[in-house]
Formats: sequence, C-alpha cells, structure tokens
Amino acid sequence: MSDSSPALSEIPANLPRHVAIIMDGNGRWAERRGSPRFAGHKAGVEAVRNVVEICGELGIQALTLFAFSSENWRRPKKEVGLLLDLFITALEREVNKLHNNRVQLRVIGDIKAFPAKLQQRIHEAMQLTATNQGLILNIAANYGGKWDITQAMRKLAIRIAAGELPPDAVTEELITNELSMHDLPEPDLFIRTGGEQRISNFLIWQLAYSELYFTESLWPDFDRVEFIKALQSFSLRQRRFGQTGAQIVALEKDQRNRA
Ligand code: FPP
Repeated sequence: MSDSSPALSEIPANLPRHVAIIMDGNGRWAERRGSPRFAGHKAGVEAVRNVVEICGELGIQALTLFAFSSENWRRPKKEVGLLLDLFITALEREVNKLHNNRVQLRVIGDIKAFPAKLQQRIHEAMQLTATNQGLILNIAANYGGKWDITQAMRKLAIRIAAGELPPDAVTEELITNELSMHDLPEPDLFIRTGGEQRISNFLIWQLAYSELYFTESLWPDFDRVEFIKALQSFSLRQRRFGQTGAQIVALEKDQRNRA
C-alpha cells in the first residue's frame, strides 16, 4: 500500500454490491503531459488494475467498466485500432492474474463487431474464469444502453411473434431478464471520472436507482484514495427507492431492532 492509502477505518461499512464506472479523461491526461492520447489509454489500464484490486480486497460483488462504447467507433480510425490492440494486450497480460485472484471476467456488448483475434481472447478469458467465485468484472465493450434494451426487446418480440408470449404479459421483470447482467444486482454506485456529468448511453435501464458520483479526477489519476472518496460519498446517501425519508429511517430502526 502506498503512503497515500487511506486507513482501513476510512472505508465505510455499507459498501455497494455493484459499482459501475465510466472511465473518462484518458485523452486529456495524456494531452496535459504533451503525450499522444494513446498514452492516456495505456495509463488507464493501470488504473483499471488498481480498482479491480481494491474491489477484490473489499469483497465488492461486481464491477462494471465502460471500456468501449457503441459510439467510440466514431473516433479517428488510428485511435480505435490502438484501443482494440490495447484490449488484446491487456487480456493476454492480465487474464492469468485475474484468474489467480478468483476474478470472473465477463464482457457485455456486441462483440461480433470486433476483430476475430479480440473475440477469441475474450472467449478464452471468459471460459477460463467462468466458475471463479471472487469479484465479477464486467467489461462493457461495443456496449450501449440503447443497444442492450433493443436486443432484449428483440428477444421478447421473437417470443411474441411465435405466439409464446402474449403482449400483455410483457413486464419490467421480463425485460430485465433479457438484459446484460440480469443475474447481478443493479449497480448501487455509478462513478464517472473526467468532470462530465452524463450517462452517455451506458447502463440506462440498470442505473435507474443507482447513486451517481461525478469526479473531476481524470481516469489515470483515479487511484485508491479517489475510489474510497466515492465509497464514502455513497455511504452517506439515503437510498429511498420511491419511499419517504421518514419511512426509510423507520425501516432501518426496525431492521436494527430485529438484528
Ligand atoms: C475515455 O477517455 C476512455 C476510453 C474511451 C477508453 C477506456 C479504456 C481504458 C481505460 C483502457 C483499457 C481498459 C480495459 C478494461 C482493458 P477519453 O479518451 O474520452 O478521454 P478524454 O475525454 O480526455 O478525451
């Protein structure tokens, strides 16, 4: 642990089960150093490693990282190519370490659009780590929230067209069951680095009740200290899920009495 690591006592007791992150600011981090944008993405991989490590240490159930959005294809061709190469290298270098640390790696998104080699590395990594019982690490790649809802609706439409499912029987639960990560709790905490305050077509359905945390910190600078600041902010939020504050206080009191 570095000197700047917060003491264990600074880690709040009520941790999120699932954290979702938009890792923004790699390009600016590099440009501020007079380096090419790609240097920021490379430094971003280090920050990914740190956050995965700390989530594993804290026993957080799931971490979902937005690595490449459906819209990122619009970037200059050279940057897209370098990013895809970086994913291949990162998978090749990190997968054994992730496996040894019991991390279960999943990739969500439309990966059929990726080069064959990257698809192969993704399948190998998912297969190797599939039964691991530690942190579930979801990498969102060629992912978009609208894509996710569309593919879910398409599956339901097929069942409706086949006469298996009456349209009236379509419920929120049935839609949820067809979405990526339907077997995980929805993210309790959403973090976006880099100063922008947007969801940017990330998990638009699954973030409906998430606590949102925005930080100016650029992704390569997002270290343990910054992550723990986000956890501390989360721990102070009162999650009401449509109820009143008074109802939540009464519920918490009741739970304490039963314990
Ligand atoms: C956004 O920063 C970042 C990305 C589009 C890529 C994210 C990729 C990584 C962190 C590295 C690899 C990750 C894995 C999981 C292997 P930006 O380029 O939009 O930054 P800017 O807003 O400063 O231009």
